[in-house]
Amino acid sequence: MKKGIASGHRPQWNTHIGFLLAAVGSAIGLGNIWRFPYLCYKNGGGAFLIPYFLALVIVGIPFMILEIGLGHRMRGSAPASCAGASTRWEWLGWWQVIFVMFGIVLYYSVIVAWSFYYLLLSFGLDWGADPNSFFFNDFLMISKGPFEVGNMRLPILFSLAVVWFLNWFIVFRGVVKGLERANKLFMPLLFLLILILVGWSINLPGSSEGISVYLKPDFEKLKDMRVWIDAVSQIFFSLSLGFGILIAYASYLPKKSEIVKDSVIISIANCSFSLIAGLGIFSVLGYMAHKLSLPIDKVVSKSIGLAFVVFPKAIGMLPAFSQLFGVLFFGCLLIAGLSSSVSILEAFTSSAIDKFHYSRKTVVSLLAIAGFIGSTIFATQGGLFWLDIVDHFLTQYGLVLGGILECILIGWIYKAYVLRGHINSFSQLKLFSWWDYSVKIVIPVTLAVILMNGFLKEVTSPYEGYPWPALALIGVGWVIFTLFFAIFVAARPWKDY
Ligand code: TRP
Repeated sequence: MKKGIASGHRPQWNTHIGFLLAAVGSAIGLGNIWRFPYLCYKNGGGAFLIPYFLALVIVGIPFMILEIGLGHRMRGSAPASCAGASTRWEWLGWWQVIFVMFGIVLYYSVIVAWSFYYLLLSFGLDWGADPNSFFFNDFLMISKGPFEVGNMRLPILFSLAVVWFLNWFIVFRGVVKGLERANKLFMPLLFLLILILVGWSINLPGSSEGISVYLKPDFEKLKDMRVWIDAVSQIFFSLSLGFGILIAYASYLPKKSEIVKDSVIISIANCSFSLIAGLGIFSVLGYMAHKLSLPIDKVVSKSIGLAFVVFPKAIGMLPAFSQLFGVLFFGCLLIAGLSSSVSILEAFTSSAIDKFHYSRKTVVSLLAIAGFIGSTIFATQGGLFWLDIVDHFLTQYGLVLGGILECILIGWIYKAYVLRGHINSFSQLKLFSWWDYSVKIVIPVTLAVILMNGFLKEVTSPYEGYPWPALALIGVGWVIFTLFFAIFVAARPWKDY
């Protein structure tokens, strides 16, 4: 099995803060800026913070301790760590890194590419007076449906090449010189930019109405199961859990590491960032509603619509320095997105190095080329439909299923108390035995409920009204294909030194 992982060959973070910033960089992504604020608003405002923080404490932090603890214990990437826990489970680690690398990151990097392009547009506010029409008709030139992919959009392709070049450049340079350095630059910059943006936004007229809509608690909403499911899913995706990323990052930690404390710090940094970003987003929406004399619910939008339609519009309406605001906002999206996408490149790269001892430079270069080519499907005129479908299936099923399996492997087969013993032998902050129950029962059951619920909804009301066979082809097919790929790779022999 994992004979090949000689610890002498493993890189190590130069500084502890370098590890923390890289993990926070992976966690903070597009999801924090455009998904969290909208979820919060939709799901009961301030009241949503209750399920959100419960999900953080009950599922998020314990799962993060599991992933960091596992990578630290096995000193290996996700496949090596799964194989270390039980030789028959190596495929699980491969599956995680493969479906994130050849699924989620392919479309995620396209959104990062849009952000880069919009950053350039911001200098002249070049989206014009009708950002909605600009985005769909001029920029995406959107086709009629997923089966009409149309032509490649050259502006997107160009930005995509830039994004994949940056991804390549950072991971190519290695753990310390690439990832650690980039995050040491990116994260402080991102915090600074977001503070400037939020400070600016909350001083706009109408901002307080925006913030009150964002946070005004509606406890009635908590009776709806959907709200609780949204909270857990958001925590899971936002903290980059079940991606195999934290396992790889933790494998570069020194022996003496405070796993529990680090997990708490990373989680809190991520969730505070979301909350603060929401203040800025809703202040701007409040300002816009104020200017247009509309109620806020008429200007609110989620994800892509928020960032690429509503925000450009609001930016154009600002009293002064609109261009600067645009540059800062899209700059934030770009940095937040890049620091997440490099993390999965690293997770995959370290997996390939662990097992086959390929050189980092070769793996990263091939991966970046494959990633760029794979992303181009989302850069076509039908790309947005594909993006929607792949995102829906991979995050709804792939991630959640991977999470459940990881809990079964560590909780029941490897045994939670064994890993807890390892973590406690290095941590000052000790894990209590309730963590075992959390990993063995609470987390997998919670995730299983989410999975079942999503599945039932799928059968009763097919996703976005597309016919089932079409969906099976794209969405489910992608999940299954990556699974077979993972089983195949896992069956190859480990290379010895
Ligand atoms: N946590 C990120 C977010 O909230 C998502 C993310 C983390 C991600 N790592 C990733 C997405 C790797 C794609 C690839 O947006």
